[in-house]
Amino acid sequence: MMTTGKPLLVALAGEVVRPAPVWLMRQAGRYLPEYRALRAREPDFLRFCLTPKLATEVTLQPIRRFGLDGAILFSDILVPPFALGHGVRFVEGEGPVLERVTSRAQVEALDLSRARGVWAPVMETVRRLRGALPPGVTLIGFAGAPFTVAAYMVEGGGSRDFAEARRMAFAEPGLFGALVARLEEATIDYLSAQVEAGAEALMLFDSWAGVLSPAQFRRWVIEPTARIAAALRARFPAVPLIGFPRGAGPMLGDYAEGTGAQAVGLDTALPAAWAARILPAGVTGQGNLDPMALVAGGAALAEEVATLMRAVAGRPWVVNLGHGIVPQTPPEHVAELVALVRAAS
Ligand code: CP3
Repeated sequence: MMTTGKPLLVALAGEVVRPAPVWLMRQAGRYLPEYRALRAREPDFLRFCLTPKLATEVTLQPIRRFGLDGAILFSDILVPPFALGHGVRFVEGEGPVLERVTSRAQVEALDLSRARGVWAPVMETVRRLRGALPPGVTLIGFAGAPFTVAAYMVEGGGSRDFAEARRMAFAEPGLFGALVARLEEATIDYLSAQVEAGAEALMLFDSWAGVLSPAQFRRWVIEPTARIAAALRARFPAVPLIGFPRGAGPMLGDYAEGTGAQAVGLDTALPAAWAARILPAGVTGQGNLDPMALVAGGAALAEEVATLMRAVAGRPWVVNLGHGIVPQTPPEHVAELVALVRAAS
């Protein structure tokens, strides 16, 4: 069976495409001088994300430079909680700082009708991108998964272990569950609006899924994601969803089966050959090169790419990193990576 079409979409539909399509998490960002130049014009990161002219331009920068197969909308997983009226700001050199959720009243105050107005510029960015992207490039929309976004909201920012979010999930499951449920509803609305504006594939970042016990992982990661996937599939059956449960470890197979996501992202710690064996037939894998191999470049990067391509031979696969590009990455190494993947057919 051979489908013609954008290579990334064909791979996400479960077909083996060679050369494998390639794009990179955080492909737009501070490692690119042209990103830093535009970012300097808008010091407020959330406003930067919500300015269609700037967000469109930085989304296109890595596409122009490297000819990647996927363009990921430039925004952030913390835009939806901000839009819902929650306190979110980005502090230079510190990362995100959020109002901490401690009460039901804060959850009840999250306002979806307000959010639609605040995230409207994101949809404008998506529309502009659909008009500006080269024909073979797939536009990927995204959101943070409810657990990861809830974890930032409970913790008040980033954390090594999200201890307070995990404590609340055990000790106050009614409160934590109400927060996750509200985010679930907002996420379906937010991703649906992206598809209506022109997103062709969607990704859910569950960056902190790996801090949970297996039972909590089922409850707060698999179950909400399954409901989001089902709602999106009912409305947009042709639009694939990529789930990224970072740190899932041996729960990866349960995640793929339990969520119904068309594709599953792997973090760097997972053996790709193992994932290629255990993922359900037809589920596409994505990942999982070490961002530090990309910083190193040269023979080490070539070896990692060759090992990955051998491990996933005969499997639908999308080449990506196991986590986002880091700021110290030499841009030439991304060009090297793309050339290696295209030569490895
Ligand atoms: O991948 C892309 O190119 C698209 C844009 C994108 C960003 N963040 C831009 C960004 C995407 C998909 C994200 C996802 C995101 N944001 C995640 C999930 C993926 C992951 O990395 O685990 C998370 C946890 C966040 C939250 C977030 N945003 C943090 C913790 C930080 C601060 C850390 C840092 O790298 O500065 C951000 C800021 C952020 N998001 C930047 C970019 C390019 C850097 C901000 C800047 O330009 O100053």
